[in-house]
Formats: sequence, structure tokens, C-alpha cells
Amino acid sequence: MKVIRIPAKITKLLASARHKGKRIGFVPTMGALHQGHLSLITRARQENDLVAVSIFVNPAQFGPREDLNKYPRPLKNDLLLCRKHKVDLVFLPDNKSMYPASFSTFVNVEKLSDLLCGLARPGHFRGVATVVAKLLNIIRPDALYLGQKDAQQAVIIKKMVCDLNFPVKVKVSPIVRQEDGLALSSRNAYLNAAEKDAALVLFKALSLAKSLIGHGQRDAARIISKMKELIGRKKQAHIDYAAIVDLESLQGMKKINRDCLICLAVKIGKTRLIDNLVVKYGEK
Ligand code: PAF
Repeated sequence: MKVIRIPAKITKLLASARHKGKRIGFVPTMGALHQGHLSLITRARQENDLVAVSIFVNPAQFGPREDLNKYPRPLKNDLLLCRKHKVDLVFLPDNKSMYPASFSTFVNVEKLSDLLCGLARPGHFRGVATVVAKLLNIIRPDALYLGQKDAQQAVIIKKMVCDLNFPVKVKVSPIVRQEDGLALSSRNAYLNAAEKDAALVLFKALSLAKSLIGHGQRDAARIISKMKELIGRKKQAHIDYAAIVDLESLQGMKKINRDCLICLAVKIGKTRLIDNLVVKYGEK
């Protein structure tokens, strides 16, 4: 496994592999790898000749009062996990090589970036789209692997790839959960034992919504109100949003009359967690 820090170097290396007919799969990450990331790496391994993983805690996607400085950076363990999962190349750039002092170009996927998490985190998706555009230009993969956990991010990146004609297939893999339902996230590391327990309410609320839809409830406002009621019973939980939205436009739905995405952002103590569930129309 090669660890490469310089953008031009990895571009050159992968260009030569591509000329030899190798198919390249790419998993972008901010490190602190867990089973969710590893499921993406495993899929990329199965579907490609070469697997590249980037580890870069992207400052452009953190707001001034967010957790950039305390974001976990267990690099040694991340590299071990990459090696164990047969990653060929790890791209490990520093801030300066990604954002030199003269940097002044940003990618903004309009409308989609201002909804849901974009409301509480202004500029977040601009930072995500910008870094992913840069990474795609540096790596030039055939396939890009993302997790459904960050559903809005996946929709935004798909839109950017389509609008800006990036020659890459975007593949989104299901959320990986603990047995108790908690969606895996690098930020779960911030939770203490009582908060971990309280955090289970996210999946419980999503499951409740799914079950209500399965039993014929079609009124989104009623379903959301039931979810909020359940979450409100946990004293550590503060809801940022609970929404039922269209899978592509991410616009709120009033009536459940097609497939939908039920999504949540909830602060548990000081930690903001997100989770979601796709519900197929007519599914029990
Ligand atoms: O999902 C993440 O970890 C990040 O948002 C990404 C896609 C690696 C961009 O920094």
C-alpha cells in the first residue's frame, strides 16, 4: 500500500495505471474509519482493479464554531485498516497542498445545499462539493463510493457530478448500524455512555415513521410530530430537524405518495448526529 501526500504525484501514478486499463475505485474520507467506511472500501475492492482512499479532514466544510480541531485523527489505525482491507493507495494531503494561500475557487450546488443540514451548517456543502471536485480531479476514478448515512451529501455530489460532467459513476452504499440500530459515525466517539443510549432514539424515531407509513399513514406532518414526540422524551436530545423529503429534490413532502427519505438531525448533548431511512412506497 502506497501513502502519497502530493496531489500531482498521485495523479501521475493513477494516470499510468489507467493507461494500462486498470479500473480505479475511490473512497473519500476524513479518517477515523469505521465499519461504514470499510463497507465502502470492500465494495470498491470488489468492483475495481485499484482502490484509492483519501484521508483529509477538510477545513472548508467546517463552520467557525464546529469541531474541526477536535475531529478524531487516529491516522495510525486508519492506515492499518486500509492495509488490512487491501487499499492500494492512500492519499493523505495536507491543508496547504489542497488550499494554498491563493486558493479562491469554490463549487456550490445551489438549492440542495441550503436545505436540511445546510440550514444549520451554512457553507458546509460548499466545502464538501469543493473538496470532492478537487479530489475527483486529482484521483480521476471510474467510480466514487459514498455512504447513505450522509444522504444529503450523496444527493449533492451526484448533482455536481451530473451538472459538471465529471466522468465518474457515483455509488451509494447502505448505512451500517450497530446491532441496537445506532448508525456508525466518526462523531459517535464524542458520546458518553448515557448519550450513546439516548442516541438510539434517532433510529427508533425513524423506525416509528417507517412503521406509520407502512400502516397507511400518509400525512407527513402527523408522522413528523410523532417522531418529535418520541425524541422529545430524551432529555439529552435536541432536534435540529425531522423531515420527510423527496429522494432527489430533498424538498419536504406533505403527502406520502411515492418513495421518500425520512431524515433527522438531533443534538445529543453537544454532538450533532444525523440519520435517515429510505422508505419505498407501498413497502410494509
Ligand atoms: O463524508 C465525508 O467524510 C466527507 O464529507 C468527504 C466526502 C470525505 C469530503 O470531505
